[in-house]
Amino acid sequence: MEKLVVKGGKRLCGEVTISGAKNAAVAIIPAAILVDGTCIIENIPAIKDVTVICSILEELGAKVEFLDKYTVKIDSSSVNKYTAPYEHVRKMRASYYLLGALLGRIKKADVALPGGCNFGSRPIDQHLKGFKALGAAIDDCAEETGAIYAETEGLIGTNVYLDVVSVGATINVMLAATLARGTTIIENVAKEPHIVDVANFLNAMGANIKGAGTDVIKIHGVEKLHGGTYSIIPDQIEAGTFMVAAAATGGDILVKNVIPKHMDSVSAKLVETGAKVLEFDDSIRVIGSGTIKPVNIKTLPYPGFPTDMQPQFVSLLAASSGTSTVTESVWESRFQYVDELLRMGADITISGRRAIIRGTGLSGTQVRATDLRGGAGMVIAGLMAKGETVITDIQYIDRGYENMEEKFRKLGADIKRIDD
Ligand code: EPZ
Repeated sequence: MEKLVVKGGKRLCGEVTISGAKNAAVAIIPAAILVDGTCIIENIPAIKDVTVICSILEELGAKVEFLDKYTVKIDSSSVNKYTAPYEHVRKMRASYYLLGALLGRIKKADVALPGGCNFGSRPIDQHLKGFKALGAAIDDCAEETGAIYAETEGLIGTNVYLDVVSVGATINVMLAATLARGTTIIENVAKEPHIVDVANFLNAMGANIKGAGTDVIKIHGVEKLHGGTYSIIPDQIEAGTFMVAAAATGGDILVKNVIPKHMDSVSAKLVETGAKVLEFDDSIRVIGSGTIKPVNIKTLPYPGFPTDMQPQFVSLLAASSGTSTVTESVWESRFQYVDELLRMGADITISGRRAIIRGTGLSGTQVRATDLRGGAGMVIAGLMAKGETVITDIQYIDRGYENMEEKFRKLGADIKRIDD
């Protein structure tokens, strides 16, 4: 079991380069199943979730070859299987994208129900509603067998209204509709940057998708997609995590390879906490003031404040100079990591979906990463805490952050990975 050991109190300064977006990569790689040819995907983050989704594609019959650490070549012309095995699928939530991609390409999909981070019930009813509207038959026994089986004689474009603004359902229905006959209009869709990225990837391969990034996406089905080369956008949440680290340590960090527009809600909150945020073309410099002012936050779908930045901000605010509230409105239960912060001396009360955070000093102790972003929150807390923080269960962090401790070490953090 590997652990991270962080000695807090260092001011982080310097430059860090952000990797490709995890949540775009884990959708674009399965989207390559729809391509009748070879696609080359650049700026892939070197993280566990990418390794897992690539090996699932190989099991389905695709040829997957890494040209270098960050560039993958995928040839899906030989995809001939439609069953995604549970032992892989259980490791990552985004495996549900295999449903939309396989249905679109080979008209059948048998995918075990997804795993990934656990923060309350994570239904996929809106994905299934979209597939059904497009003409897929879905096996009703899915709950009992632990898998979803879907098949179709041929998907036909239609109108789909999503009852919940869902990133996954938006992308999945878009994937299924790409090769459907006729036009599909999806309303009340999510607008996250990675949704636009998936649409841009598909369009670069010959799809006809309009409106990604707005409330309505229109997909004119095409007969087939051709190969091509595409480069993934930078990771909004990794960038946000380093921006928070600058504010948390009173540091001065230039976060490179970002799209500043994607960071608007995070930048605005950091400014409210007293940090200085300077935007450039493709980088952002954050200068911490040394004192963290309390703020109130509510998580929302994009362009609102991202739920995936919630734990990092709660850690930051745990050391602020007053009382803050953070309301989680996307996930029903995303405060599991707070128990770990309490063990570091934080003063936080959870009331339903709201955390009330009274700023105090943090002290190092042994804590665990309860999930990916909860783990990032523990690292931020460790960087601020007095003494040594030991973080266990870091396999969650490795799912979504590339070389996190090395990037922090280069900024001056005292952090190391140990093998127990
Ligand atoms: C994506 O999850 C991200 N994962 C999550 O990031 C992120 O927290 C989430 O979007 C919200 O931004 C990936 O992109 C792989 P949703 P997703 O469908 O698509 C409800 C991280 O840390 N809902 O937008 O699974 C659902 O319960 C991860 O990087 C339904 O009710 O999230 C939730 O309350 C964690 N029915 C809300 O919608 C559905 O059919 C938003 O979920 C689907 C969702």
